[in-house]
Amino acid sequence: MAPVLILLGPPGAGKGTQARMLEEDFGLIQLSTGDLLRAAVSAGTPAGLAAKAVMAAGALVSDEIVLAILKDRMAQPDVAKGIILDGFPRTSGQAAALDKLLAESGQKITAAISLEVDDAAMVGRVSGRHTCGSCGEGYHDTFKRPHTAGVCDKCGGLEFKRRADDNAETVRDRLTAYHAQTAPLIAYYEAKGVLERIDAMGPIAEIRHSLGQIIAGIAA
Ligand code: AP5
Repeated sequence: MAPVLILLGPPGAGKGTQARMLEEDFGLIQLSTGDLLRAAVSAGTPAGLAAKAVMAAGALVSDEIVLAILKDRMAQPDVAKGIILDGFPRTSGQAAALDKLLAESGQKITAAISLEVDDAAMVGRVSGRHTCGSCGEGYHDTFKRPHTAGVCDKCGGLEFKRRADDNAETVRDRLTAYHAQTAPLIAYYEAKGVLERIDAMGPIAEIRHSLGQIIAGIAA
């Protein structure tokens, strides 16, 4: 059965950074509901129009919208390789819907990995974030700079962008939403016996190594 991994953690915990590296290391597919919603906002779809102001305020988009875009994405054939859910589920309703969706196709959650971090450091991590405008590779002003300043390591792109919701005030609201609505899922997955915890305050490469060990252990 193809692996179904969930990365849990607050804004800035490193879910996107690690999910992209797990794609490279294990040939899995990253499904980021944040990326899917931002694509819907850019495309001006009805879901994107409804989500735009909610995301800008640092609150959670409705389960109905998020589940619709996730189901569409999960209907594509590449997910058969195995998936890393990044930013989903985020509410108890989404967690129950995911269980149902997986059960319908004879699948189940392989592991839910909680990236454990100090909230205080997350504002700095998120406000320093930027991505390559061409290929989407992620960088940080302090912790992950391109090898040559202003040039993307991956594709040579010269344009970088920052997310509209990556300002200190909105990050605090996103952290509040995380603790109120998403952190309880850690106990939910612990009760199911699929929870793994990782100290995600160390260097990016160290966390990548720890995640790799967990995934290799599951596959063995
Ligand atoms: P989303 O896009 O999912 O954002 P988030 O959960 O707030 O998470 P981030 O992307 O900010 O952080 P990350 O953990 O991926 O960190 P990253 O690896 O980039 O959601 C955005 C919005 O969309 C939500 O607020 C909500 O409105 C909506 N939404 C999305 N999904 C939803 C859902 N399921 N339900 C309802 N609404 C939903 O790292 C951050 C920075 O730190 C980077 O610059 C990186 O280089 C750096 N970094 C990473 N790891 C380290 C490290 N170990 N040490 C130092 N720096 C590091």
